[in-house]
Parts: sequence; structure tokens; C-alpha cells
Amino acid sequence: MAEHILEFRDVGKQFAGVRALDKVSFSVDAGEIHAIVGENGAGKSTLMKIVSGFYPAGTYEGSVFINGQEIQFKDIADAESAGVAIIYQELALVPKLNVIDNIFLGHELKTARGSIDMMAQSKRTQELLELLGLDVNPFLPVQELGVGQQQLIEIAKAINRNARIIIFDEPTAALNEKESYQLLDLIRDFKAKGITSIYVSHKLEEVLAVADRLTILRDGSTVETAPVKGNAAMNEGLIISYMVGRTIENRFPWAEKHPGDVVLEVRNWTVPHPVLEHKNALENINLSVRKGEIVGLGGLMGAGRTEFALSLIGLYQKPVTGTLAIDGREERINNPNDAIRRGLCYLTEDRKGKGLILFNSIKTNMTLASLKQFTHFSRINPMQEDAAAQGMVSGLSIKSSSLEQLAGNLSGGNQQKVVLAKWLLAQPKVLILDEPTRGIDVGAKYEIYELMNRLTADQGVGILMISSELPELLGVCDRIIVMHEGELAGELDRKNATPELFMKYATGVQ
Ligand SMILES: Nc1ncnc2c1ncn2[C@@H]1O[C@H](COP(=O)(O)OP(=O)(O)OP(=O)(O)O)[C@@H](O)[C@H]1O
Ligand SMILES: [Mg+2]
Repeated sequence: MAEHILEFRDVGKQFAGVRALDKVSFSVDAGEIHAIVGENGAGKSTLMKIVSGFYPAGTYEGSVFINGQEIQFKDIADAESAGVAIIYQELALVPKLNVIDNIFLGHELKTARGSIDMMAQSKRTQELLELLGLDVNPFLPVQELGVGQQQLIEIAKAINRNARIIIFDEPTAALNEKESYQLLDLIRDFKAKGITSIYVSHKLEEVLAVADRLTILRDGSTVETAPVKGNAAMNEGLIISYMVGRTIENRFPWAEKHPGDVVLEVRNWTVPHPVLEHKNALENINLSVRKGEIVGLGGLMGAGRTEFALSLIGLYQKPVTGTLAIDGREERINNPNDAIRRGLCYLTEDRKGKGLILFNSIKTNMTLASLKQFTHFSRINPMQEDAAAQGMVSGLSIKSSSLEQLAGNLSGGNQQKVVLAKWLLAQPKVLILDEPTRGIDVGAKYEIYELMNRLTADQGVGILMISSELPELLGVCDRIIVMHEGELAGELDRKNATPELFMKYATGVQ
């Protein structure tokens, strides 16, 4: 057993009303890159929280062994001392502290006199940054860094504490393509240094590219552990069928649509830069979406897509110029409530920060933007509210114990579905979806695309979908508008849309 750095034996975990894990057994070899895949709610994060001491000994069933020794972690610090570090998808740094202080928080280097050894900390930080190929000023508060950079600081922290096992829980969900590749390279470097990585992800291309072996979880149990490298049989299709228990023929369902009148029309839309004076984040954007049409909004990170969406719904901090019309009527939208009243809804890319109230129930979160429909003479009709929420839970296959479950306790992908449900209940005319399938498993993605098809084809909603996943844009949109540095660079029709043409517009190459 010595070659197994980590072994799970019949591991189980029960939450009130939900069995998250049931007799999970598999082992991870020392120095390998081991991927864990499974649908939303399959139990991946829960299992990782057990190894990393978040769920202490005694709160789960079965046993976990590190180097043959059963773990008895009381907390995360215990796990860290045993060489286990976890990098969460939601970053856990202290935003206002600088890079150095974040890396050494709770593990400060001391001088002989017992004060903090600034020199040594700063020197060690430089070494770590170099090791990770990260060129940032270590005295900057981490909140001023990009997400990708912040994640590297988390990794620096782990390395600094001599982690032998690093767990990555959906690490690339918020990274752009370049940052994702860099991270995968880094994980390969770690392997060369003998560090073991556990890689949890919904992005099967990445899993196939980086993992030595993978374990598939379904409904809290292990389905299969198999080698990836040198195993021609282990392809996306097979993994998906293990994950969902059925085969999915086509990743992108298609519905014939009959676009009607223009429902959203934006003219001469100019948005000042959030920080710089005399510079615009968006310049003179003209764009329209018709009823029953899915329009994609693509571009590289930083092209201004989220700024565009936020400015449309009245959530931009500086004054915007230009006109916006819904159903042919010019509207002034000063805040998100105005937008909802006019039938313009926006699903944010940042579900934890802005999309959900984590300590409220699933039901409350879902009906928040549509309470008026269930309210008669200023009283909420609880039966109607329940029925509407229940309809969404079944319609979107949301995995939860009840409507009263706290949104914060749902798995990542199911949280995203709750945010989506909230906007569907608001019966929008125009729905702006910002990265709607981020962190969502393949099966559920398919369901979301089908839902988008129904909303447009059957109900005539106009959808504007912002996405960083090119296959998704090409697979589901009727038209794709490409942004480059705050301007519209080009438009692709479904019939002539190719990745090459898209990249040409997105990178501004003429
Ligand atoms: N604190 C909690 N209280 C109650 N139920 C929970 C809690 N944490 C997780 N669960 C439930 O346990 C199950 C497994 O959740 P987990 O977060 O491990 O899934 P996951 O595989 O990581 O999914 P995703 O891909 O969506 O991140 C889900 O049904 C979830 O609702
Ligand atoms: Mg998870």
C-alpha cells in the first residue's frame, strides 16, 4: 500500500436529508495527476473537503489513509501539516492584504528576536513568484490582481507550506484560456517534482490532457477509476456516459427558430472606462436582438462584454451615453429593478458574489425577482410560490433535499441553476446570460441549451449570451457578435461561423 499516497475506503457523508457520499473507494498513487469527474452534486467537493480537513474526523464514515496512515484531521491546519493543500474555485485570499502577507498569513517567518522577518518573507515570496512564473508586485493588495494571478498566489501559499498533495477544485472555471494552459503546465511541473495533484474539473478536454488517471463519481459513489494516458478507450464520450449513466449523442441540441421583431435595440452605446479618465471601456456599440433569437456575444477576456451587460441593466458606476429600446420603446434604465420591470434580466457571471443569497432557501432565491406574480392584495400566496419553485427544480433537474435547503449548501453547478431559475420566473422579454454554463456538468449544460431553445423558439424571448467557450457559442447561437477592446469587431452568422473567423475578429487581426 506504500505506493498509494492517498486511499479512500468506503467513505460516506450524510447531510440533513442528503447522502452526498456513499462508500467511495479508490486510491491515488504518489506523484500522479489524478482527475475526479462527475455531475453537479456527485460529491466531488465534499470528498475533497474531507481530505483537506474541512470536514473533520468523526463527521464522515469510512476511512482515508495518507501514506498508509489513517487521517484524523481536526481542521484544515492539521491537513496542512500533513502536506495537503486545497485550491478552491472561490478564492480564499484576504483581498486587502498584499501578496507577501497573504502567503505568510498564520505562518509568519520570525527573526531571532521574535518579530516578523520582512526581509526573509519578501525574499521567499520572490522565489515563489519566480517558480510560478508570476510577474507581480508583491506589495500590491491581492484584490488588485486578476483572478488567474490570485489563484497562483494560492498555489504559492500551498507550495510554501510544503504541500505534497495539492487538490484543485475546478481551478480553471474563472480563468481565461491562456491562464488555464499555464496552470496545466504548472501541474505537470509539480509532477516532475514529485508533488501529487488531484484535479476536479468539468472540462474534460483538460482532464484528458493533464491527468494520468481519473475517477468518476456518480450520485456519491465511485463508478470507475481508470488510466487516461495511453488508454485510447478513455475518451470524452465514454467518460460522459459513465458520469450521467447514458450516452449523449450531440452536445448541442438545435431548434429551428423564427425570429420576430427586434426586442432589444442598443444604439451608440458608449461607456467610460471604470478607472481611466478620457478613455472609454465601450465605444459606440450598435446591436440588436430579435424575439426568438439567441445572439452570442464573444471576445477575449477584457473585451468589455460584462461591462456592456452591466451598463445595460443600470449597474455601471459611471454615466453611459446612447439609447436602449425594448420592444421598440426607448427606456431609461437606472438600476436593475428598472431593468426587471421592463423585462430585461441579467444572469451574472459571479453567482456567489451577486447572484445568490447564500443563507436564504432555494425557494426564496428563486422567487425573489418575481414575487409580484405570487402576491395578491400584498400577501404572498405560498402555494403558488411553492409550485413555481418546484416547477423549476424539476424542470432544471436541480439536485436538492427540499425547497427550503439553503442555497449556500448546494453544489456549485446547482447554485448556478437556481440563479437561472430566478430569471426564468421573472418572465423576461430579453435575457442576458453571462457565462451561464460555467461550472456546469455536461448533462446539465445540455438541459440549459434545450431550455434556451424552448425560451426562444416557443416563447419568443430574445437571448443575449456572453460566453468564453467558443464551441458553446458556435453550437447554440443563431448569430455571434464578436467584441474586441470595447468595440464590435464583427458578426458571424450560424452558417458561416468558424473558429478561425471568430478568432480573427476577437484578436483584432484584419
Ligand atoms: N453543507 C451542506 N449541507 C447540505 N447538503 C450539502 C452540503 N454540502 C453539499 N451538500 C449536498 O451534497 C451533494 C454533493 O455536493 P458537492 O458539492 O460535493 O457536489 P460536486 O460534485 O462538487 O458538484 P459541482 O460539480 O456542482 O460542484 C449535493 O447534493 C449537495 O447539495
Ligand atoms: Mg463542487
